Amino acid sequence: MTEYNKENPFRTKIIKRYVLNKKGSTKKTYHITLDLTGSKMTYRAGDALAIFPENLPEEVHFLLEALNKRGNEEVTDPRSGNTLPLEHFLRTKVNFNRIPIPLVKQTGDPKLLEEANKEERTQFIAQHDLVEFFQLYPTNLSLQELVSYLPPLLPRFYSIASSPHVHPHTVDLLVATFSYKQGTKEKQGLGPHYLCHLAALHRAPIHAYLHPTPHFLLPQDPTIPIIMIGPGTGVAPYRAFLQEREAQKASGKNWLFFGERNQATDYYYESYFESLKKKGFLSIDLAFSRDQAEKCYVQHRFLEKGAEIWSLLSSGAYLYICGDARHMAKDVISALHSIVETHGSQEGKSYIKSLRREKRLLLDVY
Ligand SMILES: Cc1cc2nc3c(=O)[nH]c(=O)nc-3n(C[C@H](O)[C@H](O)[C@H](O)COP(=O)(O)OP(=O)(O)OC[C@H]3O[C@@H](n4cnc5c(N)ncnc54)[C@H](O)[C@@H]3O)c2cc1C
Ligand SMILES: NC(=O)c1ccc[n+]([C@@H]2O[C@H](COP(=O)([O-])OP(=O)(O)OC[C@H]3O[C@@H](n4cnc5c(N)ncnc54)[C@H](OP(=O)(O)O)[C@@H]3O)[C@@H](O)[C@H]2O)c1
Repeated sequence: MTEYNKENPFRTKIIKRYVLNKKGSTKKTYHITLDLTGSKMTYRAGDALAIFPENLPEEVHFLLEALNKRGNEEVTDPRSGNTLPLEHFLRTKVNFNRIPIPLVKQTGDPKLLEEANKEERTQFIAQHDLVEFFQLYPTNLSLQELVSYLPPLLPRFYSIASSPHVHPHTVDLLVATFSYKQGTKEKQGLGPHYLCHLAALHRAPIHAYLHPTPHFLLPQDPTIPIIMIGPGTGVAPYRAFLQEREAQKASGKNWLFFGERNQATDYYYESYFESLKKKGFLSIDLAFSRDQAEKCYVQHRFLEKGAEIWSLLSSGAYLYICGDARHMAKDVISALHSIVETHGSQEGKSYIKSLRREKRLLLDVY
């Protein structure tokens, strides 16, 4: 176990960072290796790492300007009780993307406050960040009172993509970058931007702690077959699982369903997975969604292999689903439902319930 936690994170460094996608890809997902030396952190394949991101220095600068502050003013962090300079507090402790209602109430602006304008208020909050808020509504609050209103910057979680038995002193992560629009501003996903761009390689102290995932571990018995479904970054824990099963010389079948946009550019860890396949250690089914006119997703491949999936599940296999919670996980579960109803004699819903009860259907979705 580890003595480090949310209140007392470990200071690590990024020792390796590169883009996994090949030239010409429409996305950028990074492989990141962090150094655990000295942390006494012991993790299990399947666990995640929590990382505290930081805000962009230019955004901190604009917020200080809007607040008419220099940044060297001392403030007390309302959550830890520690005293630190305002600039440091804003950079590391405040979520700039959320405007809390109590701050909106401080504006006294009827356009935002009156009950009849509830819809406008919701729209305003969704389309602005704290910098824009204070540019529009300069505040009269005392600095310490203001600080107590600012929303906390929460840690981001990343599945560990390495096995502790193969890499006891480092952890590998798979981090997908993205940008999106908030109102008129083009923004970068905060955690990915911090890890993939802002934090200097070998230098920046990254504050992290282990986030154990006891609900998403390998079967203790290495003869049990495992079926792993993980498009995109959902594949991260399976790299850890496979390294671990190799180290254990596990005899149970390993079957991976992976998907991304294009095979030529987005097949993460291709040489590792293909080498395992060549050795007969891994079966792989791939779904590249943008290589043809019709979308092809992991659940389509999964359905195609329905008879074999049913037979493995009936022999005691574990089924893992990792990655996007909003669409993928639901679609995979509904594919499982049809496999059960087509190939089994049981009602789909109750079979899936029993799989979950037996802890043989394991999800880590976000
Ligand atoms: C248990 C767990 C494991 C995880 N493992 C991984 C992992 O291995 N690799 C990984 O990359 N992420 C992983 N995540 C997600 C990760 O923690 C971050 O949420 C993710 O990197 C997005 O960054 P952010 O939260 O800082 O985005 P923010 O900047 O806070 O998000 C801003 C907005 O962007 C939207 N958004 C979020 N993701 C995307 C996206 N991909 N594309 C477009 N818009 C988006 C959000 O809905 C939000 O409205 C995991 C999450 C959990 C809970
Ligand atoms: N909030 C958002 O707007 C938003 C947007 C994207 C991702 N995310 C989150 O970010 C995480 C990381 O994303 P990622 O880069 O790892 O990859 P991802 O966005 O999950 O995409 C990986 C692959 O899954 C495909 N996919 C899309 N919908 C699917 C579905 N319903 N079922 C199965 N596969 C599907 C994608 O295809 P296509 O892209 O070609 O459809 C792509 O080929 C995701 O898990 C998700 O939670 C959030």
